[in-house]
Formats: sequence, C-alpha cells, structure tokens
Amino acid sequence: MKKNIAVLAGDGIGPEVMNEAIKVLDKVALKFGHEFEYTEALIGGAAYDEHGEHLPESTLKVCGGADAVLFGSVGGPVDAQDDPKWKGCEKTAILGIRRHFSFNINLRPSIVFEALTDISPLKKSLIGDGFDIMIIRELTGGIYFGKHETSDENGVRVARDEMRYDENEVRAIAKVAFDIAKTRGGKLISVDKANVLDCSILWRKVMEEASADYGDVALEHMYIDNAAMQLVKNPRSFDTVVTGNMFGDILSDLSSVFAGSLGVLGSASLNADGFGMYEPSGGSAPDIAGRGIANPIAQILSAAMMLKYSFGMQDEYDAVYDAVSQTLADGVRTGDICSAEMKAVGTSEMGDEIASRV
Ligand code: IPM
Ligand code: MG
Repeated sequence: MKKNIAVLAGDGIGPEVMNEAIKVLDKVALKFGHEFEYTEALIGGAAYDEHGEHLPESTLKVCGGADAVLFGSVGGPVDAQDDPKWKGCEKTAILGIRRHFSFNINLRPSIVFEALTDISPLKKSLIGDGFDIMIIRELTGGIYFGKHETSDENGVRVARDEMRYDENEVRAIAKVAFDIAKTRGGKLISVDKANVLDCSILWRKVMEEASADYGDVALEHMYIDNAAMQLVKNPRSFDTVVTGNMFGDILSDLSSVFAGSLGVLGSASLNADGFGMYEPSGGSAPDIAGRGIANPIAQILSAAMMLKYSFGMQDEYDAVYDAVSQTLADGVRTGDICSAEMKAVGTSEMGDEIASRV
C-alpha cells in the first residue's frame, strides 16, 4: 500500500522521537512491501516561530491532504508559559486540530508491559504479568467545547463553563466503544457522574440503548470518583472503558502512570470518516529535549496505532508492538525506564533496537 503521512513533530522532544518512529515505519514498509511518504508541517511553538501562530492554515492543509497525521508534541517550559511563543500553545494547537477535523474519538491504551512491571507504581500483586486497558474518550463535546465565559456580576468575578452533550454525540462514541470492546474482553465500563449531572444521565441512557445491539458485550456503569479508585485498587478488572471528554482526560492520565513512564504509551484521535491523528500520551518534555535521551516508544506505538486504525494493517501493528515488547524483554531501556543495574541507551539506539526487531 502507498500512504501519505503528515508529520507534525512539534516542540521539545517531538522531533527526536519522531525520527525514531519514522525509522520503524520505514522498516515496516520494507518488510511488508508498503510505501510511506512523509510530509512535514509545523505546529505549536515551532509553527509560532515561523508563522506567528500555533496552528497555521498551511499545516491543516497538509494534514487534510494526507492519509493520516503523526503528531509529536507541543508546548514549552513551565516557567515560560507567559512568553507569546508558548502562551495558549497546547490549547490552541491541540484543541484546534481536534475541532478542525472533528476528532470525536480518542483511544488511550494503558499498557503495563510484562518487562516493565517492576517500574510501575502499582504493587506487583495488582499487576500480575502486566495488563492492557483501553480508555475511549469522547473528544469534541462536553465541557471542553461548551461556552466558556468570565464576567463581572455586581463587582463579583464569575466564570462559567457549559457542559453539553447531545444524544448523537454519545451514540457515536458508544458505537465505537462497543465495537472495540467486542474485539477485546467483551466487557465495557461506561464512566459518568449520573448521580449529579444531567449530561451523565443522558450518557447512561444512550449507552444502555446502544448495548441492545451488542448482546456479546457486558455493559457496566461506574461513577467517575469510584472508577478512579477502582482503577488504582483493581486495574485488572478493567478492560475497555468509555467516558466523556473531561473524565476521559483525567482517567487516561491516571492510567498512563501504571506503565511506569510517560514515554511508553501512544494514542489515537479519530473522526467519523476514519481519518486519524496519532500522538504520544506524554508531552513535549522540554527539560530533556535535544539531549538524545527521550524514550521514543510512545511515538513508535502511536505510529503502530496509525498502521492499525488508519491503514487497517493489523499484522504490521502486531509486528511493531511485538518488537517493542521484545526490546524491553531483552533489557534495552532508555533512562526513564531503566533500573539501577541496567545501562540506559539513547533515543536513537532505542529506535534502532526496535526497528531491528520488526
Ligand atoms: C490531553 C491534554 C489536553 C486535553 C490539553 C493540552 C488541552 O491534557 O490531550 O489530554 O485536556 O485534552
Ligand atoms: Mg490530558
């Protein structure tokens, strides 16, 4: 197959880890007889330097003309957030591209690789041989995209953020979640706050309605506060989780720490047409940028998700995933996932090791 990939490396460690993802994709192309073409475009602070904005029209055009978007990371140092280059950077670039392409589906796997169980903050007794939870987050609705307003009411400062869901938005994410749950453990946990919020009452009803078409998937509802607690207490009781935009933001960060490092998990954002953008779950890590020590696994697994979800290449996905697992099992580690008795490799060497195992 011939595919054109828009490459948005962005800021911080983005460009370094992106090189490694491309190295692995090139190996996949060679091995499976595909042709991948890459078109680079700027986003975030890198785009600001060139165009004075974080999400230039020219970048959206490159993405729109591609078969999929591979995204690195955006954003600057914590202490430079008021600098015009970084001010509002993540919000503008990330929420802007989600809105532009209507990426309403967000897939955030939380994987504990067997070889990394020792560095997970969870107790070994909770992890077993490792696990794999899929968190499905609704990405273009809810409180994120409602009206935001700050005003003055009789000399008192007031802020409002509207949370809104319509049944079509919920039905769309429900269908995706049930379809995915069906291919996994057949168990779907829908997370909401239906004891307080109208949005959640509607969410729950629509989930129930959707479940009628999926006799082979067991649907369970859980309140967000309880879900956060259960995820930490008993992570292996979760398989596939579906939730709204803000709860998904929080739960996916919570679950991402189980992996032991922010540098190992990928994610996918998809729209109703199946067009997708793929990005590491961690951020731009400006503190370690440019030093050649960042872990490229999150970017590599994001590229693998692109193969699976945008290009329908399941075998190619498996080849990359297995190469990552094997590399870790062989004790090859970047500094973030390295134990005292191991020697850490750099970003590029990690990419070489994974590519060689594909
Ligand atoms: C994420 C991020 C974004 C979000 C921010 C940067 C707007 O935290 O992708 O989870 O809240 O969605
Ligand atoms: Mg987040």
